[in-house]
Amino acid sequence: MSEINLSGKKVLITGGAGFVGSNLTERAVKCGAEVTVLDDLFTGTLDNITKGINYKFVEGTVTDNDIVVKLVKEADYVAHLAARNIIVSTKNPRNDFEVNIGGTLNVLLAARDHGIDGMVYTSSASVYGNPRILPISEDEKPHTFSPYSVSKLAGENYCHAFFETYGVPVAMVRYSNIYGPKQNPQNPYCGVISKFIEAIDQGVSPQIHGDGRQTRDYTYIDDAVDATLMAMISPRAEGEVFNLGTGSETSVVELITILSKLFDKEIIPEHIDRRDIDNIRRRVLNIEKIRTRLRWQPQIGLDVGLKRTVAWFLNQKG
Ligand SMILES: NC(=O)c1ccc[n+]([C@@H]2O[C@H](COP(=O)([O-])OP(=O)(O)OC[C@H]3O[C@@H](n4cnc5c(N)ncnc54)[C@H](O)[C@@H]3O)[C@@H](O)[C@H]2O)c1
Repeated sequence: MSEINLSGKKVLITGGAGFVGSNLTERAVKCGAEVTVLDDLFTGTLDNITKGINYKFVEGTVTDNDIVVKLVKEADYVAHLAARNIIVSTKNPRNDFEVNIGGTLNVLLAARDHGIDGMVYTSSASVYGNPRILPISEDEKPHTFSPYSVSKLAGENYCHAFFETYGVPVAMVRYSNIYGPKQNPQNPYCGVISKFIEAIDQGVSPQIHGDGRQTRDYTYIDDAVDATLMAMISPRAEGEVFNLGTGSETSVVELITILSKLFDKEIIPEHIDRRDIDNIRRRVLNIEKIRTRLRWQPQIGLDVGLKRTVAWFLNQKG
């Protein structure tokens, strides 16, 4: 893990009770920050944050401008993660619009009006849709196939505009598939890895959409958290968008092979219909920009990351 010093800094983390947010909260506290989490507990839970960690929790929504203003005013840095996920967003695009776009606008307006030292906005590689060239670079033209990708890209565009127009020091990171401890398989958009681990552990065949040759770029949570904090505090990141991934492409079938080894059992997946949401054939990110600008690169390979994730999952069950 990188050396990140947040001693005495006040950090607001929206969505800090979710999968990525709770890991970010714990890491920011370890780096010396005084952390405040704003979360409406829509998919997040306070159980995600280890007991005894010293942070302040505010239950509320980013669509509530008064709360957002109050909390941003008190903060030196903001990590804005709160969002409705792709499943919720597909079912209810208006709610997605209100939270993912409206909530982001609230945070940016408060940052503009009250001044902050740095901010990071967590976007998604889903803004690329089906890319023309792999690995996908930040210059690839976005193809917004889902309401979720529209709202995540709109959030980015607002960040750009607030940097250019008002000088708000905000960076944007486009996450690939993040996996690791605290990812809840009960959450419908938790990601394939924790769903597979849960199924295998229960002795049920993991379900693969289609032939399983679809690929993604899987990033271990600790690496993603490091990069997110670096983007939040680095002046070199201001006004910039960064792919956050590993640059390695892994198919669903390959995931099953690694998990079979880790569980030491033969796994026979069940093939079901192709997914109708986020149905992208191949996705792998070019990470040259974040590597050169922020001197960040992933430290945890898929074998080690999966091993840690399985260990965490089994430990949770007790
Ligand atoms: N996990 C991934 O692979 C991935 C990939 C691409 C982008 N992202 C982005 O990363 C961020 C975090 O995702 P995650 O995987 O941790 O998801 P998550 O669902 O676990 O976390 C989101 C958190 O935001 C909270 N939230 C939702 N609406 C809110 C609102 N109106 N006000 C306050 N809090 C609200 C939820 O309760 C939850 O705690 C999101 O912005 C997401 O779009 C994640």
